[in-house]
Amino acid sequence: MTNHQRRIAITGGAGFIGSNLLLQLLPKYPSHFFVNVDCLTYAGNLSNLRSLETCDNYTFEKLDIRDRSAVVDCFERHRIDSVIHLAAESHVDRSIDGPMLFVQTNVIGTANLLEAALKQRERIGQFRFHHVSTDEVYGSLGDAGYFTETTPYRPNSPYAASKAAADHLVRAYHKTYGLDVVTTNCSNNYGPYQFPEKLIPLMIRNAGEGLPLPVYGDGRNVRDWLYVEDHCRALDLVFHRGSAGETYNIGGHNEIANIDLVTFVCNIMDELLGGGPRRDTIEFVTDRPGHDRRYAIDASKIEKELGWIPSVSFEEGIRATVGWYLDNEQWLAECASGEYLKYYDKMYSNR
Ligand code: NAD
Ligand code: TYD
Repeated sequence: MTNHQRRIAITGGAGFIGSNLLLQLLPKYPSHFFVNVDCLTYAGNLSNLRSLETCDNYTFEKLDIRDRSAVVDCFERHRIDSVIHLAAESHVDRSIDGPMLFVQTNVIGTANLLEAALKQRERIGQFRFHHVSTDEVYGSLGDAGYFTETTPYRPNSPYAASKAAADHLVRAYHKTYGLDVVTTNCSNNYGPYQFPEKLIPLMIRNAGEGLPLPVYGDGRNVRDWLYVEDHCRALDLVFHRGSAGETYNIGGHNEIANIDLVTFVCNIMDELLGGGPRRDTIEFVTDRPGHDRRYAIDASKIEKELGWIPSVSFEEGIRATVGWYLDNEQWLAECASGEYLKYYDKMYSNR
């Protein structure tokens, strides 16, 4: 085996953020070796990473993080010295319909990785564990204020609670066993390769097919949107330069109400494709139970300590994203088959 500077496992590398991260890090760090650890759920898609298949500092391991001995074995075989942990069940609506899978993957899966990290540290003397988490652990904001790194945890959905539990385990392994950990809590991402169950790609897909655009409740829930490549740049910085035991909030300073966002996407699609107005197909539907009203991130710590600020404006990012989905109809069609449709047929028939 060639000697590489770092030997990094990226869990969830075939998902939305993981794919973008691998595509960004591989060319930037030819001296690191990357192992993509993913069991390829409905949300994982290896075709995202076709361009990396010939890179000699990349390999893929089809592996379920719920299987602890498989994780331990993988870390040993590849002499892994760090992990950037993204693998998760990530969709709030699915967590409401079936919370136990979220507990198994997000909580037990993270615990398995922490155990494997300790074992690997025993073997090689050091191990960095970067845990990728969400701002949803903090709960919901009113009209004012921001989440900071010291905001108390108040998760409201089974997804958010499972991520919060994982964050606590990561913290405990630092405090108790001295494991070198960093945690990042990021706001809502958007961009290429996002599975079309999440708001933005779902709206692009439905609007493209003349389907209704389902907006939950009154549409005034606010999210703080960040272009995925900016998130990946922040992950790179925290992984390489973040202080052990610290957490970093990452956000776009880009608050927008759902209804305004969906209208904006419709307007761009009208402009690019003609026809419309697509906003006329917006339908207000029954609200999500426990729907958090507002998320907004104070990202001043990562800015001060590591010099990170978002580089892609919201308009630029949304135009790039709509353009990407329109250019990648085949990718969208592959996602929108099988389990995806079954899930949505069931959800809409329940409303
Ligand atoms: P995603 O759902 O697109 O991808 C998740 C990936 O994890 C998939 O490739 C899937 O196959 C894999 N996976 C799931 N269960 C697994 C298991 N048991 N074993 C191995 N692999 C498994 O998710 P995403 O949007 O890319 O999110 C990645 C991470 O970032 C998650 O931890 C999520 O909580 C966090 N996050 C996401 C956002 C966002 O807006 N998408 C924001 C903040 C934080
Ligand atoms: P989502 O992309 O599921 O992310 P999260 O729930 O993790 O923030 O949803 C973003 C926002 O959009 C959230 O307020 C719920 C809302 N939403 C809709 O109004 N309609 C939809 O079809 C979806 C999927 C989400």
